[in-house]
This record gives sequence, structure tokens and C-alpha cells, in this order.
Amino acid sequence: MTFENILVEKNNAVATITINRPSKLNALNKATIEELHHAFKQCDEDSGIRAIIITGSGEKAFVAGADISEFASFNTSQGSELARKGQELLFDFVERLGTPVIAAVNGFALGGGLELAMASHIRVASDNARMGLPEVTLGVIPGYGGTQRLPQLVGKGRANEMIMTAQMIDAATALNFGLVNHVVPQAELLQKANEIAEKIAKNSPMAIAQAIKAVNANFSDGINGYSVEIDRFGFCFGTGDFKEGTTAFLEKRKADFQGN
Ligand code: COA
Repeated sequence: MTFENILVEKNNAVATITINRPSKLNALNKATIEELHHAFKQCDEDSGIRAIIITGSGEKAFVAGADISEFASFNTSQGSELARKGQELLFDFVERLGTPVIAAVNGFALGGGLELAMASHIRVASDNARMGLPEVTLGVIPGYGGTQRLPQLVGKGRANEMIMTAQMIDAATALNFGLVNHVVPQAELLQKANEIAEKIAKNSPMAIAQAIKAVNANFSDGINGYSVEIDRFGFCFGTGDFKEGTTAFLEKRKADFQGN
């Protein structure tokens, strides 16, 4: 698949996906969501890629939301389908990916933009970043997981305030809320995201994929996360990475994980 709305760059074990519609503040239209799905899938299937960074093009926006011009005339069933398809192709897909995704939030992360950052496993923001879920100003609610993931990350009260007031928060507040892990000057954003990605890339990809499943289980209705953890923990003992990791420790050398 050739991409028109995104750029994909692979540098050793780290892939960087850049949403590249700066004139529309990287708003997520249907085509961009489909391209992102394919790009994330390709990176995940590439055994050489051990971490993925998602960011936005330009200095102003990560993503200013779903593309309002595409859904303004939708009816009830088209609205439901928009949310269902988006969650399936991108937001749930990213959260469940076996390869860790780091969102490098380089400016406005609004609506679907914040939802994409929240579906990612780790968030780093530039000091000019502003985040919010402004959907109620449009007469709609967040539909790409925002009502679920924002309370998970910042707590119910703060999430309710952000959703109901539709106000943006700045990077310092996002850090204080635990919505992002780090805030750095914009010029250092990708460097910071890469530093985290490179640390991740040294560890067992197989174990990291199991850890993602176990952590996600904590937030899945009707699933006992402790049982998932026991299951995934046991699974690791049958992997090549476990053999390599423990052998390397006992031999006092660095592990060379193959992700098997
Ligand atoms: N969907 C579609 N187009 C969008 C967009 C979105 N979510 N966000 C920005 N754009 C477009 C604007 O329409 C404009 O296009 P144009 O130049 O062809 O008119 C361009 O991006 C630049 O945006 P503009 O509004 O002129 O920039 P600004 O600096 O004045 O304001 C924002 C920046 C982010 C405050 C403002 O663009 C905004 O509020 N965007 C919508 C945010 C939103 O509600 N997102 C949730 C959607 S569910």
C-alpha cells in the first residue's frame, strides 16, 4: 500500500509514523485512519521493529481530531459506524499491538488526536502541546475510546471536567495529571521518544508483547487480569527469549533477543 497521508521511516529497531496533513492540522480522515492501520500492521509484522513512534507533521499539531468535514452530514447509523470502524482499525488496534507504541505529542492533540495518543502505550509531549476532548462543542461525544481511556489515565473527575468543559489542558497540566509521561522542549521531542524506544528495543520483544496483553487485561471488562498475567507469565517460560535472557544473565553477558 502506498501512503498519501502518512510517512513511515524505519531506523534500526524503531519505526516512526508521521501523520502528514499539516494544512489540516493532521486531522484524521477515513483515508488516514486506513493508512495508519496498514502502517501499524506492517511495522508490527516486521520482526526487526521493536518500537513504534507516532507523531504529527509540523510544529503546530499532533492531530486536531477526527476530520469534521467528513462526518458533519452523518446520520445516527453512520455515526455509530464511524466510531466502530475507527476503534477497530486504529484505536483498539494500536492498544492491542504487540509492538509498543510511543505517542510523541508535538502540538494540539484534540478529540481523535488525544484518543490516538491515549491508545498508544506511552506518551511524551512537547512543551507547546495542548490536549483536550472538545467533542461536546460539536454536539457529539468522544467516539474513539476517549470516554473510556481518559478516566483510566487521569481519573473520573478530571476526565469528566475535561469532557464536559471541552477545555484544553497544557503540557504541564497533562504531566501533572499523568496523561503524559514526559514533557520536553519541542526540538527534543523525537529524541526523547527515541531514547525510550531504544531502551525498549534492548528487551525481550516476546515478553513485552505479553506484558501489553496483561496490562490491557486490567482494563477489560469481565477479564481477570491476574489470571491473564499468570497465563502470559507461564507462556514466557516456553519462549526462546526467556532461554536467552536467563542464560545471558547466568553467563554474565548482554542478552541478544530474537523475539521468539
Ligand atoms: N477536522 C477538519 N479540519 C480541521 C480540523 C478537524 N478536526 N482541525 C483543524 N482543521 C483544519 C481547519 O479547518 C483549517 O483548514 P482550512 O485552512 O482549509 O480552513 C486548518 O485545519 C487549520 O485550522 P485553523 O482552525 O485555521 O487553525 P487555528 O490555529 O485557528 O485553530 C484549532 C486550531 C485546533 C484550535 C482549531 O483548528 C480547532 O478547533 N479544530 C477542531 C478541533 C476539534 O474540535 N476536534 C475534535 C473533532 S471530533
